Amino acid sequence: MNVHTKHSADAETAEESLAYQEAQAVNDSDSATAVAMQNTLLTPRFYTTDFDEMDALNVEPVRQDWDLLLDQMRSDPNRGHFKKNEDWDQIDWDGMEPELRKEFIDFLISSCTAEFSGCVLYKEMKRRGTNPDICELFKFMSRDEARHAGFINDALREAGISVNLGFLTRAKKYTYFKPKFIYYATYLSEKIGYARYITIYRHLEANPEYRFHPIFKWFREWCNDEFSHGEAFALLMKANPHLTRGGNVYWIKFFLTAVYSTMWIRDHQRPAFHQALGVDPAWYGQAVFEKTSEISRQIFPITLDIDHPKWQPLLNAMQDANADLDAARKRGGIVGRLKAGWASARAATAFARLMLIPAIPNEVPESVRLEPAY
Ligand SMILES: [Fe+2]
Ligand SMILES: [Fe+2]
Repeated sequence: MNVHTKHSADAETAEESLAYQEAQAVNDSDSATAVAMQNTLLTPRFYTTDFDEMDALNVEPVRQDWDLLLDQMRSDPNRGHFKKNEDWDQIDWDGMEPELRKEFIDFLISSCTAEFSGCVLYKEMKRRGTNPDICELFKFMSRDEARHAGFINDALREAGISVNLGFLTRAKKYTYFKPKFIYYATYLSEKIGYARYITIYRHLEANPEYRFHPIFKWFREWCNDEFSHGEAFALLMKANPHLTRGGNVYWIKFFLTAVYSTMWIRDHQRPAFHQALGVDPAWYGQAVFEKTSEISRQIFPITLDIDHPKWQPLLNAMQDANADLDAARKRGGIVGRLKAGWASARAATAFARLMLIPAIPNEVPESVRLEPAY
């Protein structure tokens, strides 16, 4: 390894972080990268957008809160955190139960891809922008995401695999999203990321016998990064109130429903992983939705009615349809195609019915800023 390259945890920019990961890419396994390359409705994607429109965002209406948040990011409380230290326990990957090993590796690859997706988007905004407020924010956020992705890759390397981040940047397909969709989707993914990490962290704090891998010990500081990233998007939306009014409220509902249902389906695909953590995926899903909904009241004029009697049955219907879709695709042939078509239609219907559950109106507070409270 190039001795001049800093470890990704100590890097001050996304570029330094990635150089470190690139320097080790010789060991990257093709299969992990192939998994990260997948583009389905359920796998993490890479995004591109209208960077000029994003660069033109004005933060003056929230200047005071903005400066405080940026000061905090500039102080870089988590510098050096995302690397192995004496708290890192050795893992017997070969002795791990095969189903758990498979699901856990899938979890790590998918988390690494999601972290890296944020890094790539934020880094590109920083590179293309001219607005000092926007460039500085995206510099800090891409720095953090590069560390997160790098740390997961460090964990994967112990299992003899890792994701080739440089290759992904060049070769993975980019999906175009209008800036406003980027704000809704990234705000939500940052906040749900916070809620996911902190829920697991608190659960394992109370039940350490289920902590089957050391990476979970790092989740508290980790989720605080995601929380701050979410705060930045909340401020951007607060400064541009048309984003959360009128017809855009339907888009907010759409993104809430899409993000929540995707999480539900993905988590239910990993039963051995959740069993090893001592967590029921339905309990976990609902706990994460509650936290995310509570937080999103800082900026969204609605929340989803996650206690509605149809909520969980429809999520389960989507999940069943998705499992049938998987099986049909594996089967292939004409019968497989017909079955896949039918399963897709069922999933779409369940999603539409979730969208029809009336949302709960929310009075957005005057001041948007929140501190991590869970
Ligand atoms: Fe992250
Ligand atoms: Fe983040």
